Amino acid sequence: MIPIIRPWLGPEEARAAHDAILSGWIAQGPKVREFESAFCAAAGCAHAVAVSSATTGLHLALHGLGVGPGDEVVCPSLSFIATANSIRYCGATPVFADVDPVTQNLTGATVAAVLTPRTKAVLVVHQAGMPCDLDDIAAVLPAGVIMVEDAACAIGSTYRDKPIGGYAPLVVFSFHPRKLVTCGEGGMVAVQDAAIADRLRRLRQHAMTVNDVQRHTSTTFLLEQYDELGWNHRMTDIQAAVGIVQLAKLPAMTTRRRQLAAAYTQALADLGLVLPCDPAWGTTNYQSYCVRVPGCTAERRNAILQAMLDDGVMGKRGIMASHQEPAYAGHPHVPLPQTEAWAADSLVLPLYHEMTQDELARVVQSLRKALTTIAK
Ligand SMILES: Cc1ncc(COP(=O)(O)O)c(C=O)c1O
Repeated sequence: MIPIIRPWLGPEEARAAHDAILSGWIAQGPKVREFESAFCAAAGCAHAVAVSSATTGLHLALHGLGVGPGDEVVCPSLSFIATANSIRYCGATPVFADVDPVTQNLTGATVAAVLTPRTKAVLVVHQAGMPCDLDDIAAVLPAGVIMVEDAACAIGSTYRDKPIGGYAPLVVFSFHPRKLVTCGEGGMVAVQDAAIADRLRRLRQHAMTVNDVQRHTSTTFLLEQYDELGWNHRMTDIQAAVGIVQLAKLPAMTTRRRQLAAAYTQALADLGLVLPCDPAWGTTNYQSYCVRVPGCTAERRNAILQAMLDDGVMGKRGIMASHQEPAYAGHPHVPLPQTEAWAADSLVLPLYHEMTQDELARVVQSLRKALTTIAK
């Protein structure tokens, strides 16, 4: 079976986890700090706050910016459901905007179409690693409306020659195994402002005023205080130790994925598919290689994926449309024709660092066969 993804992990990561365990410090501690510093250098942000997942990071980011009941937050429906859910965790309302037919991301025009006086923030997504045109969206935002980036998939992607991570006040990343850099589960909030970073650090651990490292390294007795409602959204030092090793491999990971994506693009050129490519304003890390089968229904797409599975190749549907899930039944939204087209006619092909040319050729052959045998 050719899997959809295989994390690129080896003895170095295993040693890092082993050493963290034997150090005796396994919960959030010095390794988390070290991971945060390394992340700032990789993502071009001033501060980084490690958390237990991108989902909890999005929740903290929105809460930390003051998003709450009565507020609207614009986001794409075409995203993993955690994007919209994070807005609901704050008691605010997700307002779905449609996406661009080429990049599958929000645009200035689609965002402008759903702004209201209640809009507090816009949660843009760099979908599948494809950079959003941030300037285009920022240009339509009224004063006081904040941008947050859901960069769960976008570590290693760039926007206007800079790594994703330094543009909006808060940018949230994931380290789930389907992402390039993984530590099992985990997330990072890239922050530009020191005071916001400090607040998020407190909020991730119950809003405690003294953290574990401070307590363990202090020669005077420290009594903590809890100034507001907080959560346990912490990362462990075992995860951070693995993340540090993974992050050092990011340039190699990005280069390899872009090579494999180029090979797919060449091999699939004659199949009449719409293939992903870099937009004018940046480069994608190809976290997913997502192709469109023009005019394809969801039923035919599923049949194609089943035929590939029968062939030993695990593809996946493209990005989901959150508004079509029962969890969003009855949730009001503007017409979302591009979102619905993408959700029906796109599929993701296997792509992982150690994928061989032979495996890639097998995927292409399998897709080619499925497209020709499964009737339109
Ligand atoms: C766009 C997007 N946002 C958020 C998430 C949630 O990430 P995590 O699993 O780290 O919570 C994902 C996960 O796939 C995602 O693709």
